[in-house]
Amino acid sequence: MGKIIDGKAIATALQDRLREQIAYFSMTVGRKPKLAVIMVGEDPASTIYVRNKIRACEAVGVNSEAYRLAESTEQSYLEELVRKLNEDRSVDGILVQLPLPSHLNSKKIITLIDPKKDVDGFSEVNLGSLLLDDKKGLYSCTPLGIIQLIRSTGVELAGKHAVVVGRSNEVGKPIALMLLQHNCTVTICHSKTMDLASYTRTADILVVAVGKSKLVTGDMVKEGAIVIDVGINRDAEGKLCGDVDFASVMPKAGYITPVPGGVGPMTIAMLMANTLKAAKGNV
Ligand code: GUN
Repeated sequence: MGKIIDGKAIATALQDRLREQIAYFSMTVGRKPKLAVIMVGEDPASTIYVRNKIRACEAVGVNSEAYRLAESTEQSYLEELVRKLNEDRSVDGILVQLPLPSHLNSKKIITLIDPKKDVDGFSEVNLGSLLLDDKKGLYSCTPLGIIQLIRSTGVELAGKHAVVVGRSNEVGKPIALMLLQHNCTVTICHSKTMDLASYTRTADILVVAVGKSKLVTGDMVKEGAIVIDVGINRDAEGKLCGDVDFASVMPKAGYITPVPGGVGPMTIAMLMANTLKAAKGNV
């Protein structure tokens, strides 16, 4: 029977530590760290994520500035705003909530963010830093949180076979690099992988980040594996569910993250950690 990795509790403990570190920063530097959050349009999921990010800022002592822009916002306006925030010394972190409406060029916007303020770690410079294992970079929050969750189990990572399902720039690719840095043997699977189960069954650590409800079932998981579910989907009844079929995987896994209450809270905690890291580099 798998032990549940309580992401909510681990994130809360991390936020408690961050609150102290941020208080120390604010006292010594004479100002709080500041995060600017830009959202364009009214995507319901994004609205909730942005609200949770702003709340997390309040909870740990980070100043936040939310820019909620109309769906019709033009590329040039958004670029001008990012340039202005790049130059504003009082702003430590800039986050552009994705997805942007389809008429906007997300890649161009992300590239425009000063890498030192790119608290999402999505820019080319920061992804390059991760590839080169340069500790000074800002790394993608969800993969950072996943590593913390895996480490919370106390299981040694070195030499383990980690299978990542999904190859996104935000999760799949960066978590594969981080697991490699922790000396795992890493396999990346994706939508074109033939016989997915033949790979997932050999995973000591299985990270699933594809956005497909209950894609991974119990028969696809090795006994005792650590299973990290990054998916946030709705099942046929409209209930929140992950990419992993919790009911069938739980009895086989050694450890498993629930949805909700697994990876999600850690992503936001790591965003606060990245904001503090960016602020320390901006004094
Ligand atoms: N949309 C969904 N998750 C994220 C995230 O972590 N960062 C940003 N910027 N947009 C998102």
